Amino acid sequence: MERKSFSHVEEAVQFLQSKLPAAPEIGLILGSGLGVLGDQVENAVALDYGAIPNFPVSTVEGHAGKLIYGELQGKRVIVMQGRFHLYEGYEGDAVTFPVRVMRALGVNTLIVTNAAGGVNFDYKPGDLMLIRDHINFMFRNPLIGPNDNKLGARFPDMSEGYSKRLRELAKGVASEQGLPLQEGVYCGVLGPSYETPAEIRMIRTLGGDAVGMSTVPEVIAARHAGIEVLGISCISNAAAGILDQPLSHDEVMETAERVKETFLTLVRGIVEKL
Ligand code: HPA
Repeated sequence: MERKSFSHVEEAVQFLQSKLPAAPEIGLILGSGLGVLGDQVENAVALDYGAIPNFPVSTVEGHAGKLIYGELQGKRVIVMQGRFHLYEGYEGDAVTFPVRVMRALGVNTLIVTNAAGGVNFDYKPGDLMLIRDHINFMFRNPLIGPNDNKLGARFPDMSEGYSKRLRELAKGVASEQGLPLQEGVYCGVLGPSYETPAEIRMIRTLGGDAVGMSTVPEVIAARHAGIEVLGISCISNAAAGILDQPLSHDEVMETAERVKETFLTLVRGIVEKL
């Protein structure tokens, strides 16, 4: 398939600008089971991914596949309800396409969320974790290939992938809400099989606190594009080998369902302060 270029982004942006009343300021990417935030957007314009030129389409259960524009806490937002994963067979340029579209629409702050397995022994299912940094254990990079300077620099800096300023802001909001918030390193893996216990021990030894199959490509593309990023993981399960029980996507979805009110309150509180 043809690699998505700036002209594909421009085509999608032209289409979206004809549908949206104004330019969004904040982008949100909602992970497994967390799409409910998209339903709370006011004065919403919702578009199926399939209706947007050059947009990939999502296949995984629990991902609705809608781009929703509207207002949240008085801010103009654009929300991805459902995202694209490398394990679905998409290449990095497709997984990160929506981030590039968001940037070209005017987004300069991105909140990424995901469901993740808890690697750190102190984490419990249902905890929320602010992402301090990530480890790219996907061994893929969405920026591989010729660099288009219109999208960003050839060698983007990743020393502050997850904005310190936004992390401090999020911690302030959580403490005002009386909400405990973990902070740790997200290790992105390719999936779709869950990790083995030996892999989880390795990830823990190497400094990972949580593990998941998304986020890393989008955050790399966002930083490439100069977007400031905040990441929040919902710890949906203890990672493989910690408890004497198998992992399942059902457990991931059930935990997300259980914490969704807290998650919504936190994200709304953060958006309000941005
Ligand atoms: N591993 C990888 N991805 C995940 C997990 C996990 O344990 N839980 C939710 N997404």
